[in-house]
Amino acid sequence: MEKIFIKQLTKEILEKNINRFIDILSDIPDEYWKSEHFLLELPSKWSFSLYATNNLEQIIGYIIASYKDFYNSIHINKFMIDKRFRGQNIGTLMLEHFENKCKTEKKNLITLKVKKSNYSAICFYLKHNFKIHSEHSDYLLMKKDLG
Ligand SMILES: CC(C)(COP(=O)(O)OP(=O)(O)OC[C@H]1O[C@@H](n2cnc3c(N)ncnc32)[C@H](O)[C@@H]1OP(=O)(O)O)[C@@H](O)C(=O)NCCC(=O)NCCS
Repeated sequence: MEKIFIKQLTKEILEKNINRFIDILSDIPDEYWKSEHFLLELPSKWSFSLYATNNLEQIIGYIIASYKDFYNSIHINKFMIDKRFRGQNIGTLMLEHFENKCKTEKKNLITLKVKKSNYSAICFYLKHNFKIHSEHSDYLLMKKDLG
């Protein structure tokens, strides 16, 4: 397997590679994020967001996350792996880095929303010990306690 590098996302990296970030989510139905959504300023976004590259320095995935006052938590706004690289453990590796960072920064909780129809992502999160917190019309709110 090729070597994967996980790095902290900066505004500069995101701006420089914005088309690549958009391209990675282009196969997801109903996905609406454009550059203005990626570039929106959110609390602690540049401390918690990550991206992954392969040994050719291609960007192959990212976690965009931000701080929420509620219960001292970090919310995953977007988590995407390039479709050619899914199912190769890269999401797991990214999530582990992300969780370690949240723990180091003494955060209590990770939250995210996932579409009810997105079975593979729900399986992925359940496998990583996220719990279903609440059910809404077309999505689930999931959470993981870090305490
Ligand atoms: C969900 C996602 C981030 C997981 O990352 P990943 O690198 O594919 O996941 P890993 O390889 O670490 O883990 C594989 C597990 O994820 C799940 N999975 C999700 N998509 C998969 C795919 N296309 N192929 C294989 N497994 C997939 C399976 O439960 C699998 O478990 P298994 O290995 O026991 O079968 C990634 O598949 C992705 O970007 N999906 C599309 C975007 C998305 O749905 N994001 C989440 C929205 S909240």
